Amino acid sequence: MSTISVKGISVSYDRKRVLTNIFLEIEEGNIYGVIGPNGAGKSTLFKAILGLIEPDAGEVTVFGKDIKDVRKRVVYVPQRDDVDWQFPATVYDIVMMGRYPHKKILERINENDKEIVHQALKDMGIDHLKERQIGELSGGQQQRVFIARALCQEAEIFFLDEPFVGVDMTTEERIIDILKKLAAQGKTLLVVHHDLSSAPEYFNKIILLNQRLIAYGDTKTTFVEENIKKAYGAQLTILHKTGLIGK
Ligand SMILES: Nc1ncnc2c1ncn2[C@@H]1O[C@H](COP(=O)(O)OP(=O)(O)OP(=O)(O)O)[C@@H](O)[C@H]1O
Ligand SMILES: [Mg+2]
Repeated sequence: MSTISVKGISVSYDRKRVLTNIFLEIEEGNIYGVIGPNGAGKSTLFKAILGLIEPDAGEVTVFGKDIKDVRKRVVYVPQRDDVDWQFPATVYDIVMMGRYPHKKILERINENDKEIVHQALKDMGIDHLKERQIGELSGGQQQRVFIARALCQEAEIFFLDEPFVGVDMTTEERIIDILKKLAAQGKTLLVVHHDLSSAPEYFNKIILLNQRLIAYGDTKTTFVEENIKKAYGAQLTILHKTGLIGK
């Protein structure tokens, strides 16, 4: 079943076209790696699907509806530079914010909410940091807090923009395990990722983007030399070093 339908969207900033005529059908229960060079429009694609920026043309539906009507079912962890880390709040408060979409106005936090938050803190290995101010944490710790918050929202679709930036290898493995479990439960995940060598192990679907859609589909058939070359063009020498090309 298609959970997200992207029908011919084009996006510009100040009349400069950055995405052209993108068509995608995202199927539930899969982990998609969104891959392409810097400036390819990966973050822009997320923002357009999420209704945070208005496309010049085209249409997006999520669960067959306008994103505004299904926001609760979707969670977004933005790229690190897009977040203000200086606001005063504790780790616990921020992770608990993941529960708010499930609450009615003035409804209290209950034991179930606390249990879900506790589990997310444990899953991300940040239980011991819960009383700390977010601004005082290291970059990788902050990233784990925002992923814990996303887990608490119990959404059906996850948009994660470079979730592994600044986190250590153990944490990266912990996060990818959790993401794979979520996919096995039928959730849909879209993950912007720069490390080409780990992509085939992490994602069962790939979207290759460079202002236009280069290719998308099953990792085995999509994440192949011809498509990677098309997406990265002149930066090919870097690809040789990953061992993905020239085997
Ligand atoms: N708010 C903005 N105003 C103007 N131009 C923007 C804005 N945001 C992004 N752009 C431009 O749009 C293009 C696509 O940017 P985007 O952030 O979507 O790329 P990306 O694939 O996420 O790159 P990265 O891998 O560096 O995160 C780039 O050329 C960028 O400079
Ligand atoms: Mg980006």
